[in-house]
Amino acid sequence: MPNDSAHAAPAAAHAVSRPLVEVSMLEKRYGESGPPVFSDVSFTIQPAEFVCLIGHSGCGKSSILNILAGLEQPSGGTVIMDGHEITRPGLERGVVFQGHALLPWLSAVQNVAFAVRSRFPTLSRAEIREKAEHYLHLVGLHNALDKKPAELSGGMRQRVGIARAFSTQPRMLLMDEPFGALDALTRGLIQEELLQICARTRQTVFMITHDVDEAILLADRVLLMSNGPDARLAESIDNPLPRTRTRESMHHETGFYDLRNHLVDFLVRRSALVGKGEN
Ligand SMILES: Nc1ncnc2c1ncn2[C@@H]1O[C@H](COP(=O)(O)OP(=O)(O)OP(=O)(O)O)[C@@H](O)[C@H]1O
Ligand SMILES: [Mg+2]
Repeated sequence: MPNDSAHAAPAAAHAVSRPLVEVSMLEKRYGESGPPVFSDVSFTIQPAEFVCLIGHSGCGKSSILNILAGLEQPSGGTVIMDGHEITRPGLERGVVFQGHALLPWLSAVQNVAFAVRSRFPTLSRAEIREKAEHYLHLVGLHNALDKKPAELSGGMRQRVGIARAFSTQPRMLLMDEPFGALDALTRGLIQEELLQICARTRQTVFMITHDVDEAILLADRVLLMSNGPDARLAESIDNPLPRTRTRESMHHETGFYDLRNHLVDFLVRRSALVGKGEN
């Protein structure tokens, strides 16, 4: 059974005071003229921290995630990870998109193995297969190893995408609304699985969601973006709920409704005001 030491080591090796990722004064423009999509965006991510980013459509969340992934370049500012500026994609960052982007001609286990092989090219065939199966087990797909994407449900395909991202044991996992297209029941199941895997592996995660309850369940910290154009990072809210929370229990935790009301009030009312001189 492959161990998860590649996940655990970075967290243990860094003091909490030293962030894994430092985002400074990030700005993004797509055209020459007009206001930027967002500007003045600065935040840090600690090792083993689960950070959720929330904001209205079009404020630039995916653009920020794509810059962290190295898929897009910022117009201004920097992203430093482990002392190095991020300028291109790298295997130490795993990305899960809303569309799972699986290779349709490969089975579930072959899709994951493909990623494992590119990340760990010196592993034997058997070791690669073992690792791929291990991560598919973690997301509850042990009965679907040999199914092609077309033979899987949407939720199962999304799980393969998550297993694939985890299997490369990335220093940071980047997820852009990974559960957005799933029905509520499936979404709940995968959220719980994700929470357990992250707790076990001390995975660092940066995730975009539109769902306030999802953020409260998963995140250690919630970043709130104001509306675009020229959106800003308006607030960073620590989640006061204990990490042992579950979907069933979290409503009973002290502070749940205060946090929920705060996030909803931001989205409904204050997100339009921040940076526009009215907050
Ligand atoms: N490649 C691109 N070329 C031009 N404009 C773009 C490009 N990508 C994004 N934009 C614009 O930048 C803004 C932010 O887009 P982005 O996808 O980052 O927002 P988002 O917060 O992720 O929105 P959503 O919640 O709908 O996914 C939008 O106005 C969008 O039209
Ligand atoms: Mg988006």
